[in-house]
Amino acid sequence: MNNPAATVGPRVQAAIAQAFGAEYLHTDPVIRPSQFADVQINAAMALAKKVGLPPRDVAAKIVAELDLDGLCNDAEISGPGFINLTFDGAWIEERLNRMACGEPGSHAVPSQRVVVDYSSPNVAKEMHVGHLRTTVVGDSLVRVLESVGHTVIRQNHIGDWGTPFGMLIEHLLEVGDDSPEAALLEADPSAFYQAARGKFDAGEDFATRSRLRVVSLQSGDPETLAVWSRLVEHSKHYFNAIYGVLGVSLLDEHLAGESSYDPHLAQICQELEGRGIARISEGALCSFPAGFTGRDDDPLPLIIRKSDGGYGYGTTDLATIRYRVQDLAADRVLYVVGAPQNMHFRMVWATARDAGWLPDSVEVTHVQIGNVLGEDGKILKSRAGTPVKLMALLDEAVERAQAVIDANRPDLAVSERTAVARQVGIGAVKYADLSVGHDTEYVFDFDRMLALSGNTGPYLQYAAARIRSILRKAQAAGETVALPVPFGGASRSTAGIAVVEPAERALALHLLDYSATVHKVAETLEPHRLCTYLFELAQLFTAFYDQCPVLKADGPVRESRLELCSIVLDRLVAGLSLLGIETPENM
Ligand code: ARG
Repeated sequence: MNNPAATVGPRVQAAIAQAFGAEYLHTDPVIRPSQFADVQINAAMALAKKVGLPPRDVAAKIVAELDLDGLCNDAEISGPGFINLTFDGAWIEERLNRMACGEPGSHAVPSQRVVVDYSSPNVAKEMHVGHLRTTVVGDSLVRVLESVGHTVIRQNHIGDWGTPFGMLIEHLLEVGDDSPEAALLEADPSAFYQAARGKFDAGEDFATRSRLRVVSLQSGDPETLAVWSRLVEHSKHYFNAIYGVLGVSLLDEHLAGESSYDPHLAQICQELEGRGIARISEGALCSFPAGFTGRDDDPLPLIIRKSDGGYGYGTTDLATIRYRVQDLAADRVLYVVGAPQNMHFRMVWATARDAGWLPDSVEVTHVQIGNVLGEDGKILKSRAGTPVKLMALLDEAVERAQAVIDANRPDLAVSERTAVARQVGIGAVKYADLSVGHDTEYVFDFDRMLALSGNTGPYLQYAAARIRSILRKAQAAGETVALPVPFGGASRSTAGIAVVEPAERALALHLLDYSATVHKVAETLEPHRLCTYLFELAQLFTAFYDQCPVLKADGPVRESRLELCSIVLDRLVAGLSLLGIETPENM
């Protein structure tokens, strides 16, 4: 294990057990970097009460038993009872060189089958910034989970079924598949939806036909199904165009829309009713899972079959969780979905637990996605007050990035500038979604997300491009820079990084935390931790580059620093790619 805190942890545990007995083994020491030492251990304060000694004495007893062999020479007790450790330079060098040789940094975690429900937009509707965020956060989580060895099953739970499809099908039949109106499904889906809605509201005749169409759809009428699938097909083109621009890893094979559960809904209802888990209330079949009450302490219903016989969002989600557990054999299921749906999911899971479809061994998590706000602090809308068109938003990000690149790098070929603008513009939007807690709201602000300084995507991309340019200069000077083995790649046997200057030391220690950080993200499902880590890495690199000459150094020092540069580059690129962000060669 490379990471300093993780190396120290077991040794502290062992010392606690030695000093106070095995029953204290489970006292979790808090170990973190501090400004006074490489790591600071906070264990004595919590233990003091239990063992009836002053904290500093407890710390002294731990230190007396602490095995520092090969790690550092001395442990220092500070303040109310902290233990400060400063590692031997040799320990850091050894770990860093092993890392440069491609040795995996962290212990393996037991591999799980993780189903991740993300993106999940709706057919014949615009994907909005909320869907953008669930797509971006979900895609980062699947990459992180796969990178630590889990088997990930992507599920794009698109909304492709339900009563609105009656009017959508009728409208498509009227305008014809090759009409400009139908083309809106791919260019401006909301406009198509609104047109259908307008007809529905305006004419009783159209409304009646739409209602009948829902019945034909649900009874599997082939002609109706054929029109329906053309509708879905158009929407798939639209989704895929967005996914293509974003560079997300969702493919058609990951589509598992609401419609795919339709054949099971009647049986779901029957079973729940038969077993007394759901009952008829005001004509609708409902479950009343324990612990969900309304204003007057009345139990809240989860509607499973509406009074008109139709099924709803809750019904499909019950069939969905059963499928994920029974057929996909999930150990863990993540729903990367907007925060307002939290109660819906909790009620669905509670009902599924009652029905025995969701055993305790399967962990379900709602990765709650916060709203994206406009500058007025309200849900992001266009000037006209209509939902923002996602493609237009992404185009604007790329255009703005293009203006910056054109101004800053007129020396680059036009084709390269175009490619870089795309990487930077899209990277900026994605990073803005990822760098704040996924459940917090944030204000969508192009100027801020595209800034070349601060905790932004472009800042990190720029840091990487700068290191690439340093390495290119070294290569041009005839240097054969020993590039680090790409993360997880085949190993090489030697690396010669020396850690001498304080800035080198700080950078090295941070590099050693890379794997632990990625594992932490896999555990907590919080990509913003990786963003913070990478931001700090870029800052520590800048400090190192300011204080330690690289290209102007000579001999082994130059070699060592170049290797350090290239390992930083490798982790920046690897980390950004786990966020789904590309790193341009030049910027
Ligand atoms: N289509 C839904 C929406 O746009 C999200 C679906 C989330 N997944 C689920 N299993 N309910 O809000």
